Amino acid sequence: MKETTIKNILDQDSFSKNDLMRLLQTTGENRTLLFKKSAEIKEKYIGNKVWFRGLIEFSNVCGKDCLYCGIRKGIKNLKRYNLSDDEILAAAKFAYDNHYGSIALQSGELESTFVTDRIENILYKIKELSNGELGITLSVGEQKPEVYKRWFDAGAHRYLLRVESANVELYRKIHPNNKKHDFQRRLDCLKSLQDIGYQTGTGVMIGLPFQTIDDLAGDLIFMKEFNIDMCGMGPYIEHADTPLIIHSAQLLPLVERFDLTLKMIAIMRIMMKDINIVAATALQAIDPVGREKAVKIGANIIMPNITPGRYRDSYKLYDNKPCTDDSAEDCQSCLEARVNLADAEVVYGEWGDSKHYEKRRKGAKAQRRKGTKAQGRKG
Ligand code: 5AD
Ligand code: FES
Repeated sequence: MKETTIKNILDQDSFSKNDLMRLLQTTGENRTLLFKKSAEIKEKYIGNKVWFRGLIEFSNVCGKDCLYCGIRKGIKNLKRYNLSDDEILAAAKFAYDNHYGSIALQSGELESTFVTDRIENILYKIKELSNGELGITLSVGEQKPEVYKRWFDAGAHRYLLRVESANVELYRKIHPNNKKHDFQRRLDCLKSLQDIGYQTGTGVMIGLPFQTIDDLAGDLIFMKEFNIDMCGMGPYIEHADTPLIIHSAQLLPLVERFDLTLKMIAIMRIMMKDINIVAATALQAIDPVGREKAVKIGANIIMPNITPGRYRDSYKLYDNKPCTDDSAEDCQSCLEARVNLADAEVVYGEWGDSKHYEKRRKGAKAQRRKGTKAQGRKG
């Protein structure tokens, strides 16, 4: 029997796990075919466009201890910071004045009534200063459903919570083994975000110690089955002060982690044509034009850092994090030029919502209507 070629696989409507593993391992011409297909799909369903989310890393205080992360609680020689409300609002105003459609508020993970109230209050204020025009993505980790709901009601409409790895065994190897780092809770949080009505995003790190190609194929299947609206994936980059550093010798070389990340993005674009996909900053830590390469083969979101410069050095999730010396203005002009290099166009003044989300919500509504009708007939 003749072996299925990569071209045959790319012509299919859906991929088996085995297909995904083959796509992840393509080289040479086959790799080019994969990237050509994903670029075509991006062009057809999204256009050759990029939307900005001004990223405000408002605090590096974290209550958790993920074994890979450069701001984990256990790191003692790190200056912890917390932007004042005024500093956060000034950064949001910068985004608004520069016609970024949206901002993303990100921080270490804390659960407390203080944090809940504070974020809620800031959300209202950001909506106010932008006449309701700035879109807001939150990325502040696992929280109770009622907390997510309050923030949603206050104006956040997208939430990013990476699953980090969809393989529970691998998840347990890269997190402490305790209740605070529970895989099931991560899934429950993602589900409640979806139920509340957020555009829900997740993603994984690529090139983690112990991670296999099989795991990565599983991650893609997980994201498709979870029916996510947004995806943020980036290469794992070791951080010298974290526990995972002892496994550095068994890691893939950085260029291979980079290459696998591009393939994950390309395959994701083919599998979920209308979702938003971020070109992660971590790509640029490996290749100076890493994010632009991701834009070419499928990504459509970039998150320029608009955190006030003096704090950036303290939000180093991994070593060699780029742009920590720049100001928000530097990041913008630099990124715009770079995006143009990727033959794409930055769209200003639009939210750039996930088209997938609209369809998902419409589908869910229609489903509910059908259910009510059927109930009516029964009753
Ligand atoms: N390398 C790459 N990405 C990392 N993150 C945290 N630590 C690292 C690291 N060492 C990512 C996680 C997290 C996101 C905010 O940053 O995926 O969800
Ligand atoms: Fe902060 Fe993982 S170390 S959320």
